[in-house]
Amino acid sequence: MQLSKLAQNLGGSVIREMYNKALTMTDTISFTVGEPDFITPEPIIDEACKYWKAGMTHYTPNKGIPELTEAISAYHVNDLNPDPETQIMVSCGATEAIQMALFTLVDPGDEVILVTPAWPNYFGQIGMTGAVIKCVPAREENNFVPDPDDIRRAITPKTKVVILNSPSNPTGAVIDKDTCKELADVLREQDVYVISDEVYNRLVYDEPYTSITSFEGMKEKTIYIGGFSKMFAMTGWRLGYAIASPEIISNMTKLHENGASCLPAPSQLGAAYALQHCIPEIETMRQSYLKRRNLIYSLIEEIPGISLRKPKGAFYAFVNARQIMEATGMNSKEFCLDMLSKSSVVTVPGSGFGENGEGYFRISYATSEENIREGLSRIKGYVESLNW
Ligand SMILES: Cc1ncc(COP(=O)(O)O)c(C=O)c1O
Repeated sequence: MQLSKLAQNLGGSVIREMYNKALTMTDTISFTVGEPDFITPEPIIDEACKYWKAGMTHYTPNKGIPELTEAISAYHVNDLNPDPETQIMVSCGATEAIQMALFTLVDPGDEVILVTPAWPNYFGQIGMTGAVIKCVPAREENNFVPDPDDIRRAITPKTKVVILNSPSNPTGAVIDKDTCKELADVLREQDVYVISDEVYNRLVYDEPYTSITSFEGMKEKTIYIGGFSKMFAMTGWRLGYAIASPEIISNMTKLHENGASCLPAPSQLGAAYALQHCIPEIETMRQSYLKRRNLIYSLIEEIPGISLRKPKGAFYAFVNARQIMEATGMNSKEFCLDMLSKSSVVTVPGSGFGENGEGYFRISYATSEENIREGLSRIKGYVESLNW
């Protein structure tokens, strides 16, 4: 029997492809997977363990347990101020919230605007809905921030959704306040929804963070996506959430009931505890990422032929190697594979983040300073050994 067209056509993420390749090698320095190298702060683990031990091993309400939706509501009291009963859905990671948001908003043939380079999963997630992706570039000369005019021009009567991601994976770009305002001015009048993926919003380094939802009329037409993975180093807990209007949330929850169904109570209670008690731990991790960001920036500056637009958030460096790739005739995938085989450094080709990523490679610097120094020294050696 033929498998479904959906299953056959869906590509895997190039991040995992590089990661898996590296697993077959020894002495590699891996800059691939975008997850904190920190373990979840201990008090959060202790809190969750208490509830596992107490026998909380049963199904839970589909939209999340009240303790967590109330904690999320309190955490957002000064911005989105969502009603915990009707405006929040807890999901299996932010990943599932985005998928459910898309399933709620789009039908096959509708258009979804995506700013690229972008997190690879968006391509698959939009693909699973049967919608058409309209890519809008995030240009390096514009600090990888989307140009509101590009978005205005890309909107057609078929456009249902614009996905925004700030801080961005893979570029580390943070949409500045002025651009956010301009984007709001473009989007406010349009019959489109925004999915605003803000899972990295606690990890910004140079200026205060602005959310598109802070502008008049935008809260009402945005599905805000939040998460615990990056904020509290809880990637393996698989918890995220969406905040939106009651109509959207009730429909997303119907879909979620048929997918992930619900999340474990102890994990949710751990996440509630994290929001209530562990904000200082985020700051400790942020300081550490900031030091690494500065280190990686200064090390890349010392390597002729590659360059880095200083990332302002998340924990990614999107390195421009266009000059070398053009001179050697390699595309970004060939470049990263060649570097892996010769120098045992694993990076992710820019093309894996959409066509606008060609000419670049991504480094995740959520790793130790020692790894960063060793990895960058190997990259330097590799680049110097090339004939260009
Ligand atoms: C931009 C972006 N959104 C969402 C996610 C998914 O996060 P979660 O672990 O909460 O599913 C990631 C993970 O890398 C990401 O980079």
